[in-house]
Amino acid sequence: MILAPSILSADFARLADAIARAERGGAGVIHVDVMDGHFVPNITLGPPVVKSIRKATTLPLDCHLMIENADRYLDAFVDAGADWVSVHVEAVPHLERAVSHLAKRGAKPGVVLNPATPLATLEEILPEVHHVLLMSVNPGFGGQTFIPSTLDKVRRLKAMIETRRLPARIEIDGGLHPGNVREVVAAGADIVVAGSAVFGEPDVEAAARRMIEACR
Ligand code: DX5
Ligand code: ZN
Repeated sequence: MILAPSILSADFARLADAIARAERGGAGVIHVDVMDGHFVPNITLGPPVVKSIRKATTLPLDCHLMIENADRYLDAFVDAGADWVSVHVEAVPHLERAVSHLAKRGAKPGVVLNPATPLATLEEILPEVHHVLLMSVNPGFGGQTFIPSTLDKVRRLKAMIETRRLPARIEIDGGLHPGNVREVVAAGADIVVAGSAVFGEPDVEAAARRMIEACR
């Protein structure tokens, strides 16, 4: 399991320090939540912040774009240093174009599904993606409660990927903590995003470790 702490729950004035602590705790990638106040009811950060974070860590930056017209901003995020870029199927009408463009730019393309968006929307794009990000909360805020039906969605996606012998990895995002992470990993999740359970804790390094240990 790869732990992807989400900086959404970090102190934005001390990002570099928080990221270093998560890295010491075993984080494998850093999850960066980009929100525009339109696709989701919250506003966070854009390419300039990604560019600064890029200098603060050697870990891959996993940019989760919760923005309208995401296709217009793909190059800006890749240029800023994003390694993985995830776009919502609900926000990008020309998904194949976005995914192939990201791959061409050398980024790892991912597609994201909101809790109510069916797996069937992945049918055609699945062979082209590095990862599928399944939302286990409605996107917009950290600290929400895990939606239990996501567990079965992870299992069904895992089966889809295995049946078709595809390399796509499964990432899960929202409401994860040491008490439920083991179950989602057992269901088939490879990458686990955790905001409040890591950066929301007083000891970030220990909190990251607890998430990883909880899967053993
Ligand atoms: C929610 C974001 C998540 C968020 C998760 O819209 O996509 O990445 O930071 O936060 P927790 O882990 O606190 O649910
Ligand atoms: Zn996210």
